[in-house]
Amino acid sequence: MPTSSSRKHPKVLFITSEAFPLCKTGGLGDVSAALPAALRELKADVRLLLPGYPAVLSGIGHKRKVAAFNLQPHFPPAVLYSAQLQISESVSVPLYIIHCPELYQRTGGIYLDDHGQDWPDNAQRFGLLSRIGALLGSDASPLAWIPDIVHCNDWQSGLTPAYLHYHSGKKAASLMTLHNLAFQGCFPPEEVTQLGLPLGSFSMHGVEYYGNLSFLKAGIYYAARITTVSPTYAQEIQQEPLGFGLQGLLAGRSEDVSGIVNGIDTAIWNPASDPYIARKYSTQNLTAKKFNKLALQREVGLEENGAIPLFAGISRLSYQKGYDILLQIAPMLTHLPAQLVLLGSGDSQLEKQLLTLAQTYPGKIAVHIGYDEALSHRINAGADCFLMPSRFEPCGLNQMYSQCYGTPPIVHATGGLIDTVVDLNTETLADRTASGFHFHAMDADTFMRTIRRAIDTYSNAGLWKTLQLNGMNRDFSWKASASAYLSLYCRLKQSNVFFD
Ligand code: ADP
Ligand code: GLC
Repeated sequence: MPTSSSRKHPKVLFITSEAFPLCKTGGLGDVSAALPAALRELKADVRLLLPGYPAVLSGIGHKRKVAAFNLQPHFPPAVLYSAQLQISESVSVPLYIIHCPELYQRTGGIYLDDHGQDWPDNAQRFGLLSRIGALLGSDASPLAWIPDIVHCNDWQSGLTPAYLHYHSGKKAASLMTLHNLAFQGCFPPEEVTQLGLPLGSFSMHGVEYYGNLSFLKAGIYYAARITTVSPTYAQEIQQEPLGFGLQGLLAGRSEDVSGIVNGIDTAIWNPASDPYIARKYSTQNLTAKKFNKLALQREVGLEENGAIPLFAGISRLSYQKGYDILLQIAPMLTHLPAQLVLLGSGDSQLEKQLLTLAQTYPGKIAVHIGYDEALSHRINAGADCFLMPSRFEPCGLNQMYSQCYGTPPIVHATGGLIDTVVDLNTETLADRTASGFHFHAMDADTFMRTIRRAIDTYSNAGLWKTLQLNGMNRDFSWKASASAYLSLYCRLKQSNVFFD
């Protein structure tokens, strides 16, 4: 039986392909830093495992070599460094970095090359992450520290539970968190043996998915438990279309699937202390927000006008995010008292269309293509209303940032957006929970109607302020969700027959 103190302090290896501020392409990066930090505050011994991309190796301070791996012929030689990821002045998270120059030391993105194409060796790059995650989570580990739980995140670490399944010694229990089912890590079948998995794993009851090897399916199939990043998404993925082909497997494991909503790092996303914004503000001096609006309008080249509602969006540009619908309604917006500022990068066609839009409506629509952390803070602070027309959204973070900044969001009613934004209606106004607007049908007309609804609301200053304050007063910190993960870790640890 575990003692009460071991129950409280599980050892967890958090395996991820990105972690803010070292490397981030989206919300996974934010979550991979903030959640482990919040868990450490709850005294869980959580450590991160990350590939050694150039930005990771140059971004950390002191590091020391703690192990070397010789996994040929499946992987090139690799070294394991130990370091600390500094999250804030008082919190840091122990970090293991896989140094494998052949797979990670290159210019370009984490997943894509300079031409926006997947790296051709991604199966090996993230196979190695998964493989080393499994080794560290077993009695074959070269380290003295052996986790009770390996916490896998998305397809990049999806093979860890598969490797562990085929390990005959003692091993950690595995938890698979699904941040986005649209990315599954599918590769040709010959990768199975190339990555050192037994041929027998290539079956419907294993890593095989419609004739290919799927990292994500492997994770879902072999992990002891599966979580999603919001409760609504946990339900949505057990059906079509949001199961993306995995709905049958997920529904079959429904007792092991649950949703824990993401939190946000409220130290980084706080308008009262944000170093990036023109004027700090809080619920006590909300009027100071208007300086940020004027500064933003000046910065991005919009007409400086404090009275006109300023709508904003910050996003990866992909089909998921629904910016094609935003493109359809944008010209209509220019006939209303409204401005629009957008920050994003991704799909090159969408990037081009957005730039054309800004050229067509100068002073009314501003578009910044690229990835700009500082500007994203200034947009959250300066805008009046945040737009998130995502077709699907496992959780979404920006709608939470925007609520903290007194910038009520308009969201498509899907996934985590349902769980984190409260639609304005008479009931939610009365109980002071209303914090934004939902729209249900995913089409331009419905989206536009909701924008008009927001503009009407904005013209009632008292009502708008209530909406802003309701959002700013909500607790989006990781506290509750980190506790939920901790309980789950403890349950998994207790039920693991291999470790005491
Ligand atoms: P996803 O992970 O699907 O992209 P999330 O809403 O969970 O969506 O997280 C996106 C994160 O990436 C947020 O922190 C958001 O502010 C940030 N982000 C996305 N695009 C940009 C950009 N172009 N510049 C700065 N930050 C961005
Ligand atoms: C994914 C999802 C997003 C979620 C993020 C972090 O990228 O698209 O909704 O917030 O992961 O969990």
